[in-house]
Amino acid sequence: MQEKWKEVDRYINTFFAPSDSSLDGALQASEAAGLPAINVTATQGKLLMLLAQIRQARSILEIGTLGGYSTIWLARALPPGGRLITLEMDPKNAAVAESNIALAGLSGFVEVRIGRALDTLPALAAEGRAPFDLIFIDADKPTYPEYFTWAVRLSHRGTLIVADNVVRNGAVIDPASPDPNVQGVRRFLERIAAEPRVTAAVIQTVGSKGYDGFALILVTGDQ
Ligand code: SAH
Ligand code: DHB
Ligand code: MG
Repeated sequence: MQEKWKEVDRYINTFFAPSDSSLDGALQASEAAGLPAINVTATQGKLLMLLAQIRQARSILEIGTLGGYSTIWLARALPPGGRLITLEMDPKNAAVAESNIALAGLSGFVEVRIGRALDTLPALAAEGRAPFDLIFIDADKPTYPEYFTWAVRLSHRGTLIVADNVVRNGAVIDPASPDPNVQGVRRFLERIAAEPRVTAAVIQTVGSKGYDGFALILVTGDQ
């Protein structure tokens, strides 16, 4: 089925995510710099942009930048004066992302912060950068439960939290999985379900990156 999923993504993208020199250039520069091709797909990037537009997000937080591909999609949803902060542990990835974001004409909207996200997240609250209207979680999976707790802390009523890679080719259903990524995602989903201030859905996805899924979490309660 993988080849069919890829072909359908390609067909969908001819209408809704046509090739674009900034986005294509970001992927080319990322590959040339040796970054892994684990960015969201174009189809998914367009969905992220659309979600930010539906939410009318003026402030966006991303956890896990890589080469800035998803960052560019999300930042394009911002209105004039909007801001996106993206957190990246690896300075090399951050440098590639900074360059890609600049070439996309988005430097004025986007700040890349280098460091382990659990170290850089506390500063956002302390600096008064929170609350965010949309938060995209896409960094190391074993830390997803802690990222969820931080995301809720940095939210207001109406914030949309989106998390990537929560189905993992179906591996997520195995409670005995030895994979720390699977265990991280399972604890993440359990924590969401136990949090009364949010309501959530998980949607399974197929496409050019295979079979995976997004968690969509709406903050409904007061913080
Ligand atoms: N959102 C990107 C893909 C992110 S891949 C896109 O779709 O285009 C995950 C990224 O998270 C990698 O760049 C990795 O270096 C970063 N990362 C992993 N652990 C991290 C941590 N503890 N803190 C911050 N970033 C981390
Ligand atoms: C992988 C994919 C992702 O979307 C991600 O955020 C991290 C890793 C992977 O395929 O390894
Ligand atoms: Mg991902």
